[in-house]
Amino acid sequence: MSIRIGVNKEIVSGERRVALDPPTAAKLRGAGHEVVLEPGAGTLAGHPDSVWSDAATVASSSDAFSDGLDVLLTVRRPTTERLAALPSGCIVIGQLEPYRDFGELKQAAGRGIQLVSMELVPRITRAQAMDVLSSQATVAGYQAVIIAADRSPRLFPMLTTAAGTLRPAKVVVIGAGVAGLQAIATARRLGAQVEAYDIRAAAREQVESLGAKMIDTGGDAESAGGYARELTDDERAAQAEALARHLAKADIVISTAAIPGRPAPKIITRGMVETMRPGSVIVDIAAETGGNCELTRLGETVDHGGVLIDGPGNLPSRAALHASEMYARNIHSLLSLLIDEEGKLQINLEDEVIAGCLISHEGEIVHERFKDV
Ligand code: NAI
Repeated sequence: MSIRIGVNKEIVSGERRVALDPPTAAKLRGAGHEVVLEPGAGTLAGHPDSVWSDAATVASSSDAFSDGLDVLLTVRRPTTERLAALPSGCIVIGQLEPYRDFGELKQAAGRGIQLVSMELVPRITRAQAMDVLSSQATVAGYQAVIIAADRSPRLFPMLTTAAGTLRPAKVVVIGAGVAGLQAIATARRLGAQVEAYDIRAAAREQVESLGAKMIDTGGDAESAGGYARELTDDERAAQAEALARHLAKADIVISTAAIPGRPAPKIITRGMVETMRPGSVIVDIAAETGGNCELTRLGETVDHGGVLIDGPGNLPSRAALHASEMYARNIHSLLSLLIDEEGKLQINLEDEVIAGCLISHEGEIVHERFKDV
């Protein structure tokens, strides 16, 4: 018996991505499964209904779409109505934001909906191909530099022309995780001089391998699991002093610093912004979790004495085609863990990756972190 896999149409405002693209859907169909597309699901990502004919059936309507689905693939959490319309036992796979309004998910779980939250996939080597945090952060890092280049009154590369020589733009990237490293690489490709800063000393090697210079503020704040921990007051003061000198000379700042599960650390103060030259640009990728700059406002560009501070939301959606392509591959890899050799759905609760991201199973909340919520 083939598995019936649905591709949800996103409804969150500004969301252009789709959970599956035609090539990945064709792979699933090739493996004997049935792929059903909600009408218009791929249009904003560059895949209108007309291009799916080799890969999926387009449902006759959004209402008919939910019928008989074994699996629902989605980028963001589906609407309450969609969750309510799914057949009991259906597996919903997507970025379900379990930390927001868990009651809605709990209700769906109680109806037998099996929820798999892609943000919770453990970041272990075996699960790298399923890591949506990394794939989407890669797109965000790239997009942040494109926004900065667009807002800046400067060119990034050094140019030697008959009209004289232009010096390269000075870019400072704060936070050298997945997004920060991609921002460094993108700014370097455009010809900028790049400096980067991270509180994890281990980031130095990666920063330098991309041709950027590491700003040294002393210390190392790496915690278990390779992530950053919160800084002490003394560490924060030392960081601020060292960073301020570099920011005052920067033309562009891309800030990406984050601590998992916490609001973004405030690193760029109003005072620091006031030392920057007019015409400089800050793109604060951390805007969605509160921002790394004190002046950031989500979804807005603030002009503070001629320094522009941009706080974009949902950067991956701006490059929806490629972001969806990577997301679809992440989803396909995860699905392969849920489908056995005979092509049947099989949830192995003993599997470390599945146990890490499965919220509910057979009507119960099974994820340790959400059992008591
Ligand atoms: P993230 O998005 O949580 O944070 C971004 C960066 O901000 C991190 O590099 C962090 O050290 C830095 N940061 C936090 N507070 C800061 C502060 N006050 N000042 C300056 N920088 C600060 O992290 P992301 O990008 O999701 O991953 C970070 C690291 O996790 C990776 O570089 C890697 O080492 C590890 N990782 C491992 C994976 C695997 O093994 N499968 C997959 C992805 C990441």
